Amino acid sequence: MVKLDQVTKYYGSFQALNGLNLQIDKGELFGFVGPNGAGKTTSMKIMAGLLACDGGTLWIDGEQVTPGSGSWREKIGYMPDFFGVYDNLKVMEYMEFYASIYGRENDRRYLYELLDRVGLAERGEVYVDHLSRGMKQRLCLARTLIHDPLILILDEPASGMEPRARYELKEILRQLSIDGKTILVSSHILPDLSEMCTSIGIIEKGKMVVKGTVEEILSTFSEANPLLMTFTGGQEAGMRILKEDPRTRNIASRGSNVSVLFNGGEEEEADLLAKLIAGGARISAYRRAEGSLEALFLKLTDKGDENANA
Ligand SMILES: Nc1ncnc2c1ncn2[C@@H]1O[C@H](COP(=O)(O)OP(=O)(O)OP(=O)(O)O)[C@@H](O)[C@H]1O
Ligand SMILES: [Mg+2]
Repeated sequence: MVKLDQVTKYYGSFQALNGLNLQIDKGELFGFVGPNGAGKTTSMKIMAGLLACDGGTLWIDGEQVTPGSGSWREKIGYMPDFFGVYDNLKVMEYMEFYASIYGRENDRRYLYELLDRVGLAERGEVYVDHLSRGMKQRLCLARTLIHDPLILILDEPASGMEPRARYELKEILRQLSIDGKTILVSSHILPDLSEMCTSIGIIEKGKMVVKGTVEEILSTFSEANPLLMTFTGGQEAGMRILKEDPRTRNIASRGSNVSVLFNGGEEEEADLLAKLIAGGARISAYRRAEGSLEALFLKLTDKGDENANA
């Protein structure tokens, strides 16, 4: 549905996007995560047709398009990360104003439905500037939906929202996804995205460092997490076996619980367990520690720094 291939973008001599690759399939709810300045807003603006890029190729809905000359723009609903100031404009007037771009300003029922979708049905006569930040963001989302776009590109829609509002936004996005929209949503808050997104991409210094489903990402990097085991007997023999194994590092024990970094997949883990048992160890628990996406995020974006300095 959306594909970026080797997209580059310079601001003056500063390279903001450095060969960015990204693919979002139809119906996906794709989470775009990265630290400040990674290039999320830049790439989202390019996808929305608002900014030209300096190199690379972009496809929208199966068609190759030229960023910056957005004839495909009607397919996209773009929600910027910044909400403007609207003096003396009421919520329904705001919706009518944006609807007038598409000749739908008189379709009050439709606009009301959209407000209802984002939980602002009761606020039509309230001044926009009197809305709370979270409400403004939801209003902005309602406006993004006016022309019923195929693809939603939402730049940090949850920023500054309290947990309840975040939860409600997640439910709204989930529903939009069920209704068939393809959604790209950016955030700094990884656990927020990991719960609702079908796929995640982590961007760092204008490059995609990792992408996949949350499970895929975690399992790819699971080797970074220690193996945990509990001995009920034969611990000394077990420790010896662990130390001799070339794939282990950082063996630590606390009483009968042992943690060890182990370089190997599931089959190798099973082999190690068999070896331990054959060597006389009795083990009552044996598993990989579960990684948190947050820890992985920190690790990956850290690595980006090392690479940059290398
Ligand atoms: N108009 C501009 N002129 C010059 N540099 C810019 C401009 N816009 C962005 N940049 C730079 O490009 C890089 C990427 O910025 P971008 O806004 O895309 O990052 P981001 O991932 O959205 O960050 P954040 O999480 O802070 O929103 C940053 O280093 C930023 O300083
Ligand atoms: Mg941004």
